[in-house]
Amino acid sequence: MSLTTAPVDLYTDPEVFAGERKAIFATSWLFLGLESDLTRPGDYLADTLADFPVVVVRDAAGQLRGFHNVCRHRAGPLVGDGKGRCDREFVCRYHAWRYGFDGALTATGDFPPPPTDPTSQYDLFPIRVETWRGFVFVNQDPSAQPLIDALRPLEQRFAAHRTPPARVQHSHAIACNWKVYVENLLDGYHLEGVHPVLAARAGDQRHDITVEGGVAFCDHHGDEQGFWAWIWPNLGIYLHHGVLLIERVRPESATRMRSEHIYLHQPEDPGVDVAMEAAERIFDEDAWVCERVQRNLAAGVFHEGVLSPGHDGAVAWFQARVAEALSE
Ligand code: FES
Ligand SMILES: [Fe+2]
Repeated sequence: MSLTTAPVDLYTDPEVFAGERKAIFATSWLFLGLESDLTRPGDYLADTLADFPVVVVRDAAGQLRGFHNVCRHRAGPLVGDGKGRCDREFVCRYHAWRYGFDGALTATGDFPPPPTDPTSQYDLFPIRVETWRGFVFVNQDPSAQPLIDALRPLEQRFAAHRTPPARVQHSHAIACNWKVYVENLLDGYHLEGVHPVLAARAGDQRHDITVEGGVAFCDHHGDEQGFWAWIWPNLGIYLHHGVLLIERVRPESATRMRSEHIYLHQPEDPGVDVAMEAAERIFDEDAWVCERVQRNLAAGVFHEGVLSPGHDGAVAWFQARVAEALSE
C-alpha cells in the first residue's frame, strides 16, 4: 500500500514554519559547532538556529554554559554571531548591561537597579548544552532527553573512530523548504536520476536506509569505513575514508535554507580534496533538484503525491515525525 505525501502547504506556508520553530527546533538537540573552538574560559560560539539567537561560552571553571543571545534590558545582542572571546563577562552591545557566565545580571550601568529585586528576574535565559565527540549541541527544552540518548544509535556506529582535527567549511543558499532538502537526503530512490556518476560507481550495490530512534542510517556495504547518518531534525554526519562531513541544514524561512558543510580530516590528508570534490558535486545535484521541487510545489498544480513502499520508508518516517511534532 502506498502512503500519500504530506500536504503541500507544509512546504510553503510561513505559519507552518513558525509552528516548526516552536514544535521542532525549540525542542530538539541542535548542532551548534565544534568544541575545539571553545578551549579557553571566555571563548564563545554564537549562532542563529532557526531564528533563535544562541550563545555558548566556556566559564572560568571550564564548564560550557548556554543562553539565548538576548539581553534582558531591551533585547540587545550580547555578542555577534560567530566565534569569539569575552573577558570574564558578557557586556551587552546595546547599553552595556553586564552578565556573568552563569547568566546572572551583575551591572546595569547608570540605569537604576530593576525595581523588583532580586535582580535574578533579569538574568539571561538559559539553554542546555551538551557535547558528543567534540561536537557541541544546544537544546531549549529543559525536559528533553539527554543528548547521548538521542545519539545512541550513532555512538555504536562510531565505535573507535576519532573526530579528525582539521577542517574546511562552507555554506550554500538553497531556495527550498528545509524539509524538501531533508526528504531528498532520506530518499535512496533518486540515485540514478540525480546522481548518474555516483549511481554508475555504486553499480548493483544497495543503499538501504534504516531508522533507529531519531537517526536514519545508510551503511555503505563493501566499504567498512563508510556510512552516513541523518540525525533528527537537521544534521547529517557522513564518514568516508577517514573524512568526516558534518552537514547542517539551516532553515531560514518557509522557502529558503542554507546547507552548511564542515569537512573534518587529518592534517595533510591528500584524500580530503577528492572527498570534498565528490561530495560537493553530489550536493549541487541535490540542490538543483530540490529547488525545482520547491518551485513545483508552490505552483499550485500539485496537491498530493505518493510515497513508494519499497524506497520511501525513511521519507515516510520523517513526514510522520514532522506531523506528530506539529500536532502536539
Ligand atoms: S539591550 Fe542590553 S543593555 Fe540595553
Ligand atoms: Fe542526493
